[in-house]
Amino acid sequence: MNIAILGCGYVGLTTGLCFTEKGHKVICFDVDKAKLDLLQQGKLPIFEPGLEEIFKQAKEKGLLQATSDLSNAVKEADAIFIAVGTPMRQDKSIDISFVENAARQLGNELKEKQGFPVIVIKSTVVPGTTQEIVLPLLEQASGKKAGTGFGLCMNPEFLREGSAVKDFNEPDRIVLGCLGEKEKGLMQELYSAYNAPFVLTNLPTAEMIKYANNSLIATLISFSNEFANLCEKVPGVSVEDVLKAVHLDFRLNPIVGGKRLNPNILTYLRAGCGFGGSCFPKDLNALIHFSEKKGYSPELLKSVVGINQERAGHLVERLSKELGSLDGKTVGILGLAFKPETDDVRESQALKIIQSLLGKGTRVSAHDPMAVENAKRFFGSEAEKISFFGDLNSFLKEELDAMVLVTAWPQYREIDFATLGREVILVDGRGFFNREKLPENVRCVSVGFKP
Ligand SMILES: NC(=O)c1ccc[n+]([C@@H]2O[C@H](COP(=O)([O-])OP(=O)(O)OC[C@H]3O[C@@H](n4cnc5c(N)ncnc54)[C@H](O)[C@@H]3O)[C@@H](O)[C@H]2O)c1
Repeated sequence: MNIAILGCGYVGLTTGLCFTEKGHKVICFDVDKAKLDLLQQGKLPIFEPGLEEIFKQAKEKGLLQATSDLSNAVKEADAIFIAVGTPMRQDKSIDISFVENAARQLGNELKEKQGFPVIVIKSTVVPGTTQEIVLPLLEQASGKKAGTGFGLCMNPEFLREGSAVKDFNEPDRIVLGCLGEKEKGLMQELYSAYNAPFVLTNLPTAEMIKYANNSLIATLISFSNEFANLCEKVPGVSVEDVLKAVHLDFRLNPIVGGKRLNPNILTYLRAGCGFGGSCFPKDLNALIHFSEKKGYSPELLKSVVGINQERAGHLVERLSKELGSLDGKTVGILGLAFKPETDDVRESQALKIIQSLLGKGTRVSAHDPMAVENAKRFFGSEAEKISFFGDLNSFLKEELDAMVLVTAWPQYREIDFATLGREVILVDGRGFFNREKLPENVRCVSVGFKP
């Protein structure tokens, strides 16, 4: 099949590149020339484990092109994926202007296009967007009718950054909201190479499924953090121990053939410094806003967001209690990416913690193996105030009054605190370290536990 991808970000590039592995010809278009230049020079603009290798192979096989010419991208395409960003506006509602622009530009290109191209919305959009906004824009700009001139589909993406390639190639389900039978057939053919059940539905249900999914996961995280707050009020009770026992409930963790299944969902039932990233915060806020516009106040979701918003401040407060005052102290941050195995810092709790520390007159050193450049970009002129490290050993040589672990990069397990030869105050924002196994020179402050 010939596939065009509009938007070369984490979702667009992963989608496009993974399709080349199935032998499809993919052409990527983006409005960001810098991204296209990088792609044309054989460089990926994002880091995602495994993607580099697929990229190399796709280029060698001649299955991948990148273009700034939309007509060229759309010319031969059987399916055209819109995977542009849908960020959060100031008022926390969803900004769909990138989707609207892409739909307008694409509609214009559809005027001259032969056949029955299928337009696929991959971006996360609130229910009704594809049907009520994208469809009329495409029809107006193309002068064609959906169902005869082109097909329309909403195909939400569930990949997780850090394991995006695996998630795309081994999906748990393929959700397809389709306007008509013809596009349903084409999409099923495209995804038949993946061993996953289809959820065939209408456009707004497909949109709602994505929000329901993210809301559930975010709820588990805030639920765990609510218990962390509560456990900190009861000396001697550790949220980690409490949740470990909850994980053994066989309704959450069934025993099959005498063995625990340990489902991945349990990894979200853990206390820490809260969720970040480009999806959960913006998607929950978008849904709350959407819901209120529809006349329903989603109290549970509002609490999920509210609890999460307190996390960065809460961690800084605990640190401040350990250090007395934060003014003039030097604090080291372990991890800048919003989660391990990505260079994405969008809505990362680390950045919020750093902002708060800088505001209190604290000097900050920060380490991350992948995300330093993106963090520097985020801080702009303020970046000068922070000492950034990509190399862990150099970071550990800094004279630090305390360290805060924010991103659970596996290499942090290898830190030999004993060799640092001084007392280390370590705030563990992810329940990452086993307190009992840490050497004596470490004073560990754990989320959800007060001795
Ligand atoms: N990142 C994730 O883990 C993830 C997972 C599932 C769903 N999503 C959703 O997928 C969508 C994309 O997310 P992302 O993280 O890949 O975003 P991103 O910001 O990494 O990439 C979006 C890209 O779209 C480009 N773009 C903007 N307007 C365009 C236009 N008119 N034509 C072509 N390109 C245009 C931007 O230049 C950018 O390169 C969002 O709606 C997001 O919520 C993201």
